[in-house]
Order: sequence, then C-alpha cells, then structure tokens
Amino acid sequence: MRFFIDTADIAEIRKLDEYGMVDGVTTNPSLVAKSGRNFIDTIKEITGFVKGPVSAEVIATDAAQMIEEGKKLAAIAPNVTVKLPLTWEGLKACRSFAEQGIMTNVTLCFSAAQALLAAKAGATFISPFVGRLDDIGHQGMGLISEIRRIYDNYRYPTQILVASVRHTNHILEAAAIGADVATLPPAVVWQMAKHALTDKGLETFLADWAKTGQKI
Ligand code: E4P
Repeated sequence: MRFFIDTADIAEIRKLDEYGMVDGVTTNPSLVAKSGRNFIDTIKEITGFVKGPVSAEVIATDAAQMIEEGKKLAAIAPNVTVKLPLTWEGLKACRSFAEQGIMTNVTLCFSAAQALLAAKAGATFISPFVGRLDDIGHQGMGLISEIRRIYDNYRYPTQILVASVRHTNHILEAAAIGADVATLPPAVVWQMAKHALTDKGLETFLADWAKTGQKI
C-alpha cells in the first residue's frame, strides 16, 4: 500500500521521508491555511524532494477557471496532481486534464455513485473521506469496499486514495480491502509503530544485556 502524507507542513514530510514513508503528498486549502505559508512556494518545495504524486487543490468552482488554475499548478512539476472537487464542474475539468495527460485527484467523495462518475471522467485518484463519514454515523470503510468492488468489476484504472484517515484501524481496514493508497496525517503514521509490548520488551532486553557487561 502506498502512503501519501496529508499535510502542507514541509518539516513533517521531510522527517517521514527519512524513514521511506512518503510515496506522495496531499494538501488541501485548510492544510495550506494551517501551514501559514504561500501555496505555490509550498508545492514547489515539496516537489523538490518528493518524487511521487503531490496533490494541489484548485479553488475555482467553474470548470474553465479550474482548468486555468490546474494548468498553473501542473506547470510547477510533472508530479503535481491537480485536486478537483467532486462536482459536475470538477468532473468536466477532470476529463479535460485526463485528455491532456495531467494527473488528477477528485476529492470530497462521499458516495460510490460519485466515485463511479470520477472513474468515468478519467480521474487518476478518487479520494473518499472515511473519517468525515464516520463522524456523521456512516460507515466510511463500507464506502471503500463498495468502490473497490465497482472499480474491479469494470477494471477502472482510477486509484482509490483513502482520505480523512483518523487512526491506525482505518489504514489496516483500507489495506485489507485493497485500497491503492491512504493519505495519512503525520501523527497517524507516527502512532503506527507504537506498541506497549515493544517498549516493554526492549526495556527488558536492554536491562538483561547490561547484566552481561558486554559491548558490541
Ligand atoms: C486529503 O486529500 C483530504 O483533504 C483530507 O484527508 C481530509 O481530511 P480531514 O477530514 O481530516 O480534514
């Protein structure tokens, strides 16, 4: 499973990159606002060291403007993925980018019907938001299974990019279903390695080793 890092915080991306955990990056307007930095500069800097897809989201709501904005973003680097909202206008822009060979990430997906439309429009990635669905009492992971089944039935090449991930279980369930990618907030990635038995086991090994008086 590929891990994209869901942040515009460059220091966090660099830290995780040292462990080989960064297969790509996703940003959105809220994450850019949180970083307090200039959007274009941020995308330039990230694409300077991340070679996988880096999603940069358009702000326009009509297709013509989305295409204008998306072209500017795609010109930053060949691995920029133009992120478009799942609206009819977004789907129209998606189709245009597909025809131009520019990668797209269709975001704000909350239903299988929307995911089917994105695949037909030629989206490179579809981003179903599992956490936000769970938040309102729906089964976010149920949506991932449904999209997987539909895409497999028709061999759509659109990749399922699980978004709005809140915890390790989301990642494990998405991996078991066969989602192509999960985009993860850095804190969720750091949490994945933690286990009380690992800490306890290491503490015991080190204490026992100290008793031997040896050095390696
Ligand atoms: C990523 O592409 C999405 O914008 C992001 O995962 C949304 O996450 P949130 O629901 O935690 O804001």
